[in-house]
Amino acid sequence: MSLLDLHLLGSPVLRTQSEEVEEVDEEVRTFIDDLFESMDAAKGIGLAANQVGVARRVAVVDTQGTRLAMVNPVIVSAEGKSKGEEGCLSIPDLYADVTRPDRIVLEALDREGAKYRLEAEGLLARAIQHEIDHLDGILFVDYLSPLKRKLLVTRWKKDHRGEDLIKPLGPVTARS
Ligand code: NI
Repeated sequence: MSLLDLHLLGSPVLRTQSEEVEEVDEEVRTFIDDLFESMDAAKGIGLAANQVGVARRVAVVDTQGTRLAMVNPVIVSAEGKSKGEEGCLSIPDLYADVTRPDRIVLEALDREGAKYRLEAEGLLARAIQHEIDHLDGILFVDYLSPLKRKLLVTRWKKDHRGEDLIKPLGPVTARS
């Protein structure tokens, strides 16, 4: 297993529509393991392929005691509304409230390529939706009002000016 490089806001792959995975083979399984390891190193609750520079429909989530690999994930139904604070490993230090459906039903393939269906609510539902958005090139700041988004993103870009858009994920990075 290895730690993957993290892409930050401004890297074009974060705005790329990811492609379906045709077969969950050994390469995909290794990639899933690397995503989990990288998410854990960064102390995240989710990580999508786009965030590590790979435009394929694979993401992982770990929150509320549920650790999920999602290949070709689809939300088949969504209900309710809830507002909650979100952040993103690709936009470090930026947090904002986002309103999303509160209960969802997810269908995806697992690490073995078997199809599963999962009902989720609360933070787990939020994390799953956030990660699937990544696969469609959508970031959580896209849900903010244009004014708020501009304010926060402009400030973020100023604070992170001159930094690399691709940064290695490692124990040192995760602590800093
Ligand atoms: Ni994110």
